[in-house]
Amino acid sequence: MLRIDDIRFAIEGRPLFEGASVNIPDGHKVGFVGRNGTGKTTLFNLIRNELSLEGGNIAINKGVRIGGVAQEVPGSETSLLDTVLEADTERASLLAEAETATEPGRIADIQMRLADIEAWSAEGRASSILKGLGFGTKEQAMPCSAFSGGWRMRVALAGVLFAEPDLLLLDEPTNYLDLEGALWLESYLAKYPHTVITISHDRGLLNRAVTSILHLEDRKLTLYQGNYDTFAETRTARLAVAESESRKQEARRAHLQSFVDRFRAKASKAVQAQSRMKMIAKMKPITTPTEAALKRFTFPEPEELSPPIINMESASVGYNDKPVLSKLSLRIDQDDRIALLGMNGEGKSTLSKLLADKLDPMGGASHARTQA
Ligand SMILES: Nc1ncnc2c1ncn2[C@@H]1O[C@H](COP(=O)(O)OP(=O)(O)O)[C@@H](O)[C@H]1O
Ligand SMILES: [Mg+2]
Repeated sequence: MLRIDDIRFAIEGRPLFEGASVNIPDGHKVGFVGRNGTGKTTLFNLIRNELSLEGGNIAINKGVRIGGVAQEVPGSETSLLDTVLEADTERASLLAEAETATEPGRIADIQMRLADIEAWSAEGRASSILKGLGFGTKEQAMPCSAFSGGWRMRVALAGVLFAEPDLLLLDEPTNYLDLEGALWLESYLAKYPHTVITISHDRGLLNRAVTSILHLEDRKLTLYQGNYDTFAETRTARLAVAESESRKQEARRAHLQSFVDRFRAKASKAVQAQSRMKMIAKMKPITTPTEAALKRFTFPEPEELSPPIINMESASVGYNDKPVLSKLSLRIDQDDRIALLGMNGEGKSTLSKLLADKLDPMGGASHARTQA
């Protein structure tokens, strides 16, 4: 399906790929991981031929349709459902042609092809994808322009899923999804009938939707079979072996070197010293990935706070005197560990801003906050 062969590519003199190769077989579901800024998005651009390689080759099977989500989705007046339906350009153009075609043979061909691609069930499929990504029946009939950028990204995702390309490239799709949307996408991708490569930091997606992990590290690509947890275990084990081999080699080198140092000047042992020097020279250094070297950082210890850290009763918060949340009664203590869930646009960020003192509570609210 996709063969990447010994590629080289740099941005502004900084090499991102050097001698990177990987072969992705047809139908594989691949999670693409690697530290931020190492070139994952760039590889997608290279695959799409939007950037040119400096060396090596990327071969894609003939006739393969590649699909991905655009960075920005314009807010047109077309309804969400129609936007998704139009994403399948073949269906759209066949339907348009069917309106005007007069030649009986061509009409038959069009109808046959429409039947082959299951065009008549298209609306149902498009609608169920939109539903999975959080759009109810009412929203599906609304124009794209009625939705904000993040929601429009979901429409674009729905479109590409509906168009069902042979090679689906997704760049951190759960970034613009909520929990329900992300879980829906996981199961959709797991059943996707063609090849998928998805960049992600989402462990759930990487464990449940994909069957192999593509790792970008030290400008090279490695494909691991299995999900993310398997990848993490395999990799930890490999690193441990490499480190222990490297330590053993270091000990051996030191041993040989000390022999050389002691006997180099002695005529009777000069030949043995020479041969040991050769052995040292022949040793191939065992390298462990440089990116694997952990960068340690620490958080400063906070001062003791007296409980409760936050206590509010019947508070309201919002913007321009319009409350987004009201009747907020809650108490947060030192040892609480809280996950904040809710649909997009319901006020999670607003609540966070209130808790962080970035927004003031609105009239009539009692809001006690312990100062550190
Ligand atoms: N258009 C650009 N111009 C200059 N530098 C870029 C451009 N696009 C990406 N880069 C740089 O290339 C590197 C790889 O970027 P990217 O492929 O986006 O990484 P990733 O997706 O793995 O986070 C980063 O250091 C980024 O700053
Ligand atoms: Mg990226």
